[in-house]
Amino acid sequence: MIILGIESSCDETAAAIVDQDYCVHSNIISSQVAIHRQYGGVVPEIASRHHLHHIVGVVDQALEKAGYNLEQLDGVAVTKGPGLVGALLVGVQMAKSLAYVHQKPLIGVNHLEGHLVAPFLAEGGQKIPKRHLALLVSGGHTALILVESLGEYRLLGSTRDDAAGEAFDKVAKLLDLGYPGGPIIEKLSTKGDPKAIHFPRALPKKDELDFSFSGLKTAVANHLRKRGKVSGQSLFDLCASFQQAVADVLIKKTLIAAKMRRVDTLVAGGGVLANQKIRQSLQLACEESGLKLFIPPIGLCTDNAAMIAAAGMRRLVQGERSGMDLNAQARLPLANL
Ligand code: KG4
Ligand code: ZN
Repeated sequence: MIILGIESSCDETAAAIVDQDYCVHSNIISSQVAIHRQYGGVVPEIASRHHLHHIVGVVDQALEKAGYNLEQLDGVAVTKGPGLVGALLVGVQMAKSLAYVHQKPLIGVNHLEGHLVAPFLAEGGQKIPKRHLALLVSGGHTALILVESLGEYRLLGSTRDDAAGEAFDKVAKLLDLGYPGGPIIEKLSTKGDPKAIHFPRALPKKDELDFSFSGLKTAVANHLRKRGKVSGQSLFDLCASFQQAVADVLIKKTLIAAKMRRVDTLVAGGGVLANQKIRQSLQLACEESGLKLFIPPIGLCTDNAAMIAAAGMRRLVQGERSGMDLNAQARLPLANL
């Protein structure tokens, strides 16, 4: 079985070819980061236009690199939401057109499910137990989810305010570092001391699994108000201390959730898990607690279409199909699955 995946929910135009064994035959990503950087964040209208301009070329490249043509496909999977509605529409329309013209099964995929399925691409789906805990940490979401099986999700906790990735982006903005904040803060952190500044770790009651990162962002703002503009070692220390605070909160809540729900497997995904320090800290914490961790390689943590193809493939195999009335949905909670 060969599936084409298409992703255009935010600022990456992406297409990938994945087979039924979760093998990635091609994974093409056209990033718009350089375009949006000058505005300090993603400009939705510009994102839509860029997707429109690049989508055909990106799909062509994915097919060519994998060595398949459209007739050989067994299905087309596309992100239907959540995301920027104008951006999503470009991918959805492209997928619908290809599915209609070539008479292929079409499946709309929740982007968040894509992130949860990404580790399967690296490990081979059969090795990950059906029931597991999932930690999703992206630009728009921070959530702990109990996965009973594909599509059976129980939201255990989510962010009450900023998502972890959003906190990275907002703190980078406060520091005038540019967009997106995560990779820049990570780079500066490597030269800093994570214990230099003690930022608050918002850990509401022990049995509550929600996250909150806006207090941390405010603490960074207050620090800057007191200290003025920071540079050199002070900047490195601030970045490392902030990054450590995010890591500590994510790990603490994850371990509590695993214990409460008696799970021994953790699947983690989303752009923030491209962060080496957070990956290593999570890895170590899981080892110490006897939790088996599945985490995608860095390139499959951030947005890509291989994860969308994989999630779509699993649903197509179960006989699910989307109709030609498939539409983009800016808001699409996992609970709707
Ligand atoms: O999953 P993703 O690519 O897109 C969404 O679905 O949101 O996540 C993007 C987020 C951004 O907030 C970005 O700053 C963050 O992931 N991010 C990182 C790193 N790379 C991307 N955060 C921390 N460290 C990184 N290396
Ligand atoms: Zn994402």
